[in-house]
Amino acid sequence: MRATKAVLPVAGMGTRFLPVTKAVPKEMLPLVDRPCLAYVIAEAVEAGLGDIVLVTSRGKSAIEDYFDRSPALEASLAASGKEALLQEVLSAARLARVVSVRQQEPRGLGHAVLQAAAAVGNQPFAVILPDDIVDSPIPAIGQLLAVQESPDQAVVALRAVPREKTNRYGICAGPSLGPDRIRIEVMVEKPAPETAPSNLSVVGRYLLPAEIFEILAHTPPGRGGEIQLTDAIAVLAGQGRVQGVMFSGAHFDTGSPVGLLAASLHYALKHPTYGAETAELLRRLT
Ligand code: G1P
Repeated sequence: MRATKAVLPVAGMGTRFLPVTKAVPKEMLPLVDRPCLAYVIAEAVEAGLGDIVLVTSRGKSAIEDYFDRSPALEASLAASGKEALLQEVLSAARLARVVSVRQQEPRGLGHAVLQAAAAVGNQPFAVILPDDIVDSPIPAIGQLLAVQESPDQAVVALRAVPREKTNRYGICAGPSLGPDRIRIEVMVEKPAPETAPSNLSVVGRYLLPAEIFEILAHTPPGRGGEIQLTDAIAVLAGQGRVQGVMFSGAHFDTGSPVGLLAASLHYALKHPTYGAETAELLRRLT
């Protein structure tokens, strides 16, 4: 059985984007003309994960509205003959089948994923963190699906980071399975550079067996006093059931203002309408 559902945790407070995130969920900040979240949902859909489970929190209802129909807006665009815009608005609502569950307290990524247990049910699933945007010909989560050997196995996306940054990520180590893959034996959440087992960091793409919910339910608070997804996956790693994949593609951490700006420029330069104008703007500024 292959995963068909993707869980997207979007309950975070977005403190790195305050004060804008007082009123706008960070996942709704735009990358050119659509919200960051739409890019990762498009990635999931392209990889065959058309059922999306959003884990939201209070103050995030703008996200649900974006993926819903908007009858008054649609009628107004139709009446004024703005057919292209109408199709854009409709395609946002048709992008995926979206349901949402709430994380009532900010108790960590592992706790957020656990809230999706009933919506996912007893089947393997994906977790996609919307702060990590990857632009690649083969969707990043699809690259993980391509190497998964069985639904009992977990697969996580990895990339090398400078040693001094290991304390920002989940860090993994284990024997090589080929040029771009390892069998993960050790997984630690945000270790100090001196104690980090490697410099291979987890990027926000995971394939997980349903069993992870049971493990998460018994995972004690870890780093930062939060229930960490990394700690639960480490249990599977101890059983030899986790692969790490050095995915290919351009990666952006849109969880920080400069990362969002980098991703904005990347997508604006590729955009059929705005590409040339953006290139010209950059020439003038530099
Ligand atoms: C989370 C995970 C971490 C992972 C990172 C990737 O951390 O806990 O293991 O490396 O996402 O973006 P966060 O960025 O939520 O602190």
